Amino acid sequence: MAEKSEWQGTVGESWADEYRRTDRSFTLLTEHLLAQTRQFSFKNVLDIGCGAGELSLAVARGRPDVAVTGVDVSPDLVAVARERGSGLANCSFELADAADWQGDGSPELLISRHGVMFFDDPPAAFGHLADQSSDEAAILFSCFRSLEENPFFTEVIRQLPELPDKGDPRAPGPFAFADADYVRSILAKAGWQDVGCEPFDFPMIAGVGEDPVAEAIAYFKRIGPAARAARDMDTLARDRFFGRIRAMAERNMHEGVVSLPAAAWIVTARKA
Ligand SMILES: C[S@@+](CC[C@H](N)C(=O)[O-])C[C@H]1O[C@@H](n2cnc3c(N)ncnc32)[C@H](O)[C@@H]1O
Repeated sequence: MAEKSEWQGTVGESWADEYRRTDRSFTLLTEHLLAQTRQFSFKNVLDIGCGAGELSLAVARGRPDVAVTGVDVSPDLVAVARERGSGLANCSFELADAADWQGDGSPELLISRHGVMFFDDPPAAFGHLADQSSDEAAILFSCFRSLEENPFFTEVIRQLPELPDKGDPRAPGPFAFADADYVRSILAKAGWQDVGCEPFDFPMIAGVGEDPVAEAIAYFKRIGPAARAARDMDTLARDRFFGRIRAMAERNMHEGVVSLPAAAWIVTARKA
């Protein structure tokens, strides 16, 4: 699900259109990652799979003394990130595959908010990134834990007329890094040590505002498993499906916010 070629095309396009809702959905995760950056000392940062740039921009705004580079394979997302960062002198964005990115500086901190689970060959990609980094480099990224621990997704999937085939759990996709031992083995093979995987649970926001349920439905129609499944449905099946999604969103609205639990790993390591 969502391989590199999809990010370069329609999936990247939808994420570029929906970046505000996506950033809102990850609000607490972004704050947590930002807080975690404070344990490291750095002047040069690389944001891997930066998407529309939220994490890069947040680091650059808070640390004017630091140079931040975001890389992503989606032309649409890089265009949005560049526009958002146009007023910031210390933040730039490159259209590049992080697995073979070559930069001018050597980053001391590599960061990512859910942008590292899509490599065809993760040990090679993380090994290449280690080679491009300074000798003292550290890495800090988030990724989802298992699908089963993420009602933000399972509750949507449960509304489908047929459950999708589970496929290879380690194939590039949002849940490829669910197994912490697998993540540790990738990073160790790639020349990173002292790997830490800390669980972080957060409410993932789907809808707020005047009509939070309508907001949530609009978001599910564009991003994630509902959007993907709905593409192959006829009009009647789609209407019924989004009727069930509406009921699910209503059940998960509390104090004017539609949100569902999400579960991530916060992974840290340093260059061996
Ligand atoms: C789940 S999105 C996260 C985007 C962003 N970090 C955020 O939090 O909004 C994954 C991102 O990784 C990017 N991506 C996938 N494979 C990549 C690769 N090989 N090199 C760089 N970016 C990649 C996608 O284009 C997408 O923007």
